[in-house]
Amino acid sequence: MEIELAPLVDLPEGRGVRADVGSERIAVFRIGETVHAIGDRCSHAEASLSEGDVFDGEVECPRHGSPFDLTTGEPRALPATTPVPVYPTVVRDGVVYVIIGEGS
Ligand code: FES
Repeated sequence: MEIELAPLVDLPEGRGVRADVGSERIAVFRIGETVHAIGDRCSHAEASLSEGDVFDGEVECPRHGSPFDLTTGEPRALPATTPVPVYPTVVRDGVVYVIIGEGS
C-alpha cells in the first residue's frame, strides 16, 4: 500500500522525521533527493531512530549509539544486533510516498 508522506521540499535535509502510518512507526530521512524510510523503533530498546544523528548513510541510535544503515536497516555496531524494517519510498511529482506491506 502506497502512503503519501509529505512534499520532498518539506523534509529536512540530513535529519530524521517520524511518521506514524497506521500501526507502523517510521523514521524518514532525506539525503539530497533520496528518501530513506526505516522502522523508527530501535531493535535494541525501542529508542526513536528519527531522533538520531545522521552521517554517511547511517543513523546513530540516540540512546545507546548503534548505527543503522539507512538502506538495509542493519545495525553496524553493538549493542543492537537485529535489523529494523526498511520501507521502499517513491518521489513522484515532488511528493514522497512510502510503501507499506510489500517486502517491508
Ligand atoms: S535503544 Fe538503540 S542501541 Fe539501545
